[in-house]
Amino acid sequence: MFTRLTFLFLLTSSTLAWGGRSWFEGRYESAHPTAEARQKALDQVRKHKDEVVIRDDLDRKLPTFHKRLEKKVTTGETFCQNCHLPLPHSKKLRSRAFLNMHSRYIACATCHLRPEGVRFDYRWLDYASWRPVRPDHPFRTGLDIDNSIPIDGNLKIAPFFSGEPAIPPKDGPFAEKILRRWREGTPAQRAGLKARLHAPLEEEGPECVACHTSDRPMLDLQALGAEAEQVDLIQFHRIPSFFSRYRGDDEKLKIIGILR
Ligand code: HEC
Ligand code: HEC
Ligand code: HEC
Repeated sequence: MFTRLTFLFLLTSSTLAWGGRSWFEGRYESAHPTAEARQKALDQVRKHKDEVVIRDDLDRKLPTFHKRLEKKVTTGETFCQNCHLPLPHSKKLRSRAFLNMHSRYIACATCHLRPEGVRFDYRWLDYASWRPVRPDHPFRTGLDIDNSIPIDGNLKIAPFFSGEPAIPPKDGPFAEKILRRWREGTPAQRAGLKARLHAPLEEEGPECVACHTSDRPMLDLQALGAEAEQVDLIQFHRIPSFFSRYRGDDEKLKIIGILR
């Protein structure tokens, strides 16, 4: 009993001393990106400087119409969207619309932060209060759209570690620090920053069927509040299973195949 209490106390005090730093921040602090990753980042920073724009700049550059449009798609934006555009997927014509749609209710990190040997819990995170929540009707599939909650992008399925969000909030001290360094940095410093930030991240997210399957799915949909019927609809959805038939990136399949 005594040892258990001591252990608990140690755990609590170390969490406090730790200052609520998210799992991701810890990884960022200890990241040692390879020379190759740094070089790649430098090339990217030089080449793509207009593709990734800090939101402040975007506000100044774009007229109101676009700004309004931007607001509409980014309600509940994430830490990542401080730099990445509201619709971050553009490269692959085939999947980009689906992935951008999923970003409304799935955190970037759920797909892009999947470190080996680490088990995250996936829960609904309220980006406004930065708390885990259990909404009554979180999923839209199979329901009247009005009955569902996360459509405004404020609630997203996010990774948790030891009961805390594994990712930093979009506007906390960590985000401020990173954005300041990004704004004030030389290209070489920005490249170093990009490489460290992305060291724990995956370039590509999981395949569609990682979630759209009943065979060891990545997300426990029922625990996330889906009704049994919705679990089936999501896991056996035709579109994502159609995607798993593609072999190369440029392969074209006939859409009629979706009926098979
Ligand atoms: C400080 C700015 C910044 C932040 C914050 C940021 N990124 Fe990036 N990200 C970049 C830049 C710059 C690139 C290079 C891509 C380009 O220029 O086209 C990039 C590229 C990527 C890529 C493409 C693969 C690669 O590594 O080049 C992915 C995926 C990505 N980011 C995901 C994320 C996710 C997920 C988050 C949040 C956890 C995030 N990024 C946060 C600046 C940022
Ligand atoms: C449902 C999973 C999923 C979510 C959520 C997701 N991504 Fe991705 N992302 C992918 C996959 C898969 C790829 C690989 C490219 C593809 O298949 O189109 C990718 C590629 C990218 C790329 C590479 C460039 C490109 O144009 O495709 C960037 C940058 C990126 N994601 C950033 C983000 C950011 C920022 C967020 C959060 C706003 C996010 N992603 C949310 C799955 C996801
Ligand atoms: C990280 C898990 C995850 C990944 C990866 C993923 N999805 Fe989904 N997808 C979901 C969830 C959860 C829903 C249910 C959303 C809802 O009902 O509110 C969903 C819903 C959908 C829907 C139904 C949308 C609707 O409004 O009824 C389609 C279509 C879909 N996904 C296609 C895809 C495709 C195509 C890919 C790959 C490019 C993909 N998904 C990757 C988790 C994922």
